[in-house]
Amino acid sequence: MKVSFKVNGKSETVSVSADTPLLWVLRDTLGYTGTKFGCGKALCGACTVHLNGRAVRSCQTQIGSIAGQDVTTIEGLGGNHKVQRAWEALDVPQCGYCQPGQMMSASALLSTNKNPSDDDIDAFMSGNLCRCGTYPRIRAAIKAAAKMS
Ligand code: FES
Ligand code: FES
Repeated sequence: MKVSFKVNGKSETVSVSADTPLLWVLRDTLGYTGTKFGCGKALCGACTVHLNGRAVRSCQTQIGSIAGQDVTTIEGLGGNHKVQRAWEALDVPQCGYCQPGQMMSASALLSTNKNPSDDDIDAFMSGNLCRCGTYPRIRAAIKAAAKMS
């Protein structure tokens, strides 16, 4: 089927089967390789993108269900988003693999909660795993980003 939707503000139309995960359309069809594959089962958060501003797992989002909707990937944060600046200032990543998903969840959190507590952060970010254990720096970076404009 043909599906039209927006990625980072740009209109896209793809011809794929309706049950294709958004993750593979982004990476393989459209070339947005910043979004990562980790588990494919909604268990790790590596594939997190925004759908109409909400954090979703793109590995579990079928392309046929998002016609006409707005997707934002890590590329769409633009490089100067406060979350990206805070991540760089606090030197958050280790191997880096989970970090696009972490930043997409963090930016979704800050869009609805301008001053999250430790508990808010831990609850919201609990679906984003980091094998390198960067959780303390992620939490600190979210707090730093919350203070940025
Ligand atoms: S790849 Fe989607 S949650 Fe792990
Ligand atoms: S920085 Fe390596 S998995 Fe998170």
